[in-house]
Amino acid sequence: MGTPLHVSDDLALDLEEIIGQCIAILGIRGSGKSNTAGVIFEELLKHNYPLSIVDIDGEYFGLKEKFEVLVVGTGEGVEIEVDVDCAEEIAQISMEKNVPVVLDLSGFLSEERNAFLQEYLTALWNLAGKLRRPYIVGIEEAHEFIPQGTKTELKELIARIALRGRKRGLGAIIVSQRSAKVEKDVLSQAGILFLHRVVHEADMRVYSELLPWRKSEVKELISALDTGNCVYINGDTILPIYVRERETFHAGFTPSLEVVVTPQLKQVSQSIIEAIEKAKQGKGKKTRLEALKEKIARLEAALADREKKIERLEEIARTLGYIKVEVPPPSLPNVQEISKAIVHSVEGSGVTAYKSGRSGHRSVVDPRRPPAEADVPVIDIEETPPGSEDALPAAVMRHIDRIASRIAHKGVLERRILAFLVEHAPLSYSVEQIAAWTDCARGVIENSPPREFLEMGLIVRERRTDGTHYRSNLKAFVTREFGIYQPDIGPRALHLVSRVLRARIVSLGTGVRQPA
Ligand SMILES: Nc1ncnc2c1ncn2[C@@H]1O[C@H](COP(=O)(O)OP(=O)(O)O)[C@@H](O)[C@H]1O
Ligand SMILES: [Mg+2]
Repeated sequence: MGTPLHVSDDLALDLEEIIGQCIAILGIRGSGKSNTAGVIFEELLKHNYPLSIVDIDGEYFGLKEKFEVLVVGTGEGVEIEVDVDCAEEIAQISMEKNVPVVLDLSGFLSEERNAFLQEYLTALWNLAGKLRRPYIVGIEEAHEFIPQGTKTELKELIARIALRGRKRGLGAIIVSQRSAKVEKDVLSQAGILFLHRVVHEADMRVYSELLPWRKSEVKELISALDTGNCVYINGDTILPIYVRERETFHAGFTPSLEVVVTPQLKQVSQSIIEAIEKAKQGKGKKTRLEALKEKIARLEAALADREKKIERLEEIARTLGYIKVEVPPPSLPNVQEISKAIVHSVEGSGVTAYKSGRSGHRSVVDPRRPPAEADVPVIDIEETPPGSEDALPAAVMRHIDRIASRIAHKGVLERRILAFLVEHAPLSYSVEQIAAWTDCARGVIENSPPREFLEMGLIVRERRTDGTHYRSNLKAFVTREFGIYQPDIGPRALHLVSRVLRARIVSLGTGVRQPA
């Protein structure tokens, strides 16, 4: 007789069956996936089963209402703000000391999030090999990390945990609203599945492959499922079930008119918090200089590479007459901190220059001249009509807020440049033009270019034969950072996101509140 888990009244499921399993929870948004995942987490936590939850949207901190769960990352509800430098330590504390962890990655951009997960899951995988104790990792929006058809290091790692973690006691709970976009191998190997409602043909086909019924039967049954109802598969067992509601606060619930009261939350023991703070600082003190040096070396190497490439291309350009060279934002993970240090030091010296530039600077070609009608590009981003933000789901608005708040924390000059470029997209502007338009000395921009926004991918730099140009990259940025919310939001909504974000950026750069 095992240890029963109360996931559903219709179902007998034992804790022992979960060990080392890959569990897939699929269905469209609103079908009850996160609730089902939350219920499983609650049941595991009741039995002190150690776990980590990769929380993309800040949905799981409510587990603290009943359980001592450590919430770390970058979102609003985190107990300790951590970045990729601490990923390994947290994984270690979680697995060795049996501390359940919610990784709130909602405040990261996609690249930072992936770098964090890569470090974290690698550490878990290695430790599980040594300790061989039960442990499970829950991953929301799994299609984003284990996409069908594409190969990435992170995907290989997650697929390895899902497919081969068993021997190490390591299991995975894979949650996705896009069944057809999740790596097929992982789904077909999943030992336990909760199939919630889907509607798209492609997702129906995936379900048909998992269920031993005729396609028409699958379609009829699956499309009739209500929220919380699903088809449960465990080996030969196939059952329609209703999953109970979460006992703890579900932050991602569909809002109603009732006022939501955030519950009292339990705290992880102080000693654990201290251990992490110590790891954070210890790491910071001992190796900060070394880490910075390493990062500088990495960046310099990348820069040298790029300079070489640019030289080569410029050589070609000279022969051809003209060529445009695009320098994409650095793809090195975690260059954020080092660049912050650099920008910071440069910024300090830039303040006076900036002021003198205000009154003294005049440019040769008079770039202050407002663009003539003919120069003005056809901007496909119109003013945001009032109330249009209402059309975006709350989760998307939250992500816009997070990005805007991140931008708000950068330097005034950087924000001004960003605002200028975004407002005048899609054209490229020379440093001279930007200097004049943003009312600041050219030398200041040359000495302290808007690195952070280049790294975030909000703008791109182009080196041309006539000097460095910058332009907005907002559209590509939005497609990358908000792709995770598709298919809930279509291309039109992505367009709307661009408009809303554009208005935010402009108001952050000019200090003038744009019409919302
Ligand atoms: N089993 C259930 N019983 C009652 N309500 C549920 C159940 N599952 C989900 N809900 C409610 O339905 C809404 C959507 O559920 P959620 O789990 O967030 O869906 P998904 O993760 O698939 O988008 C939420 O408000 C949630 O509280
Ligand atoms: Mg959900």
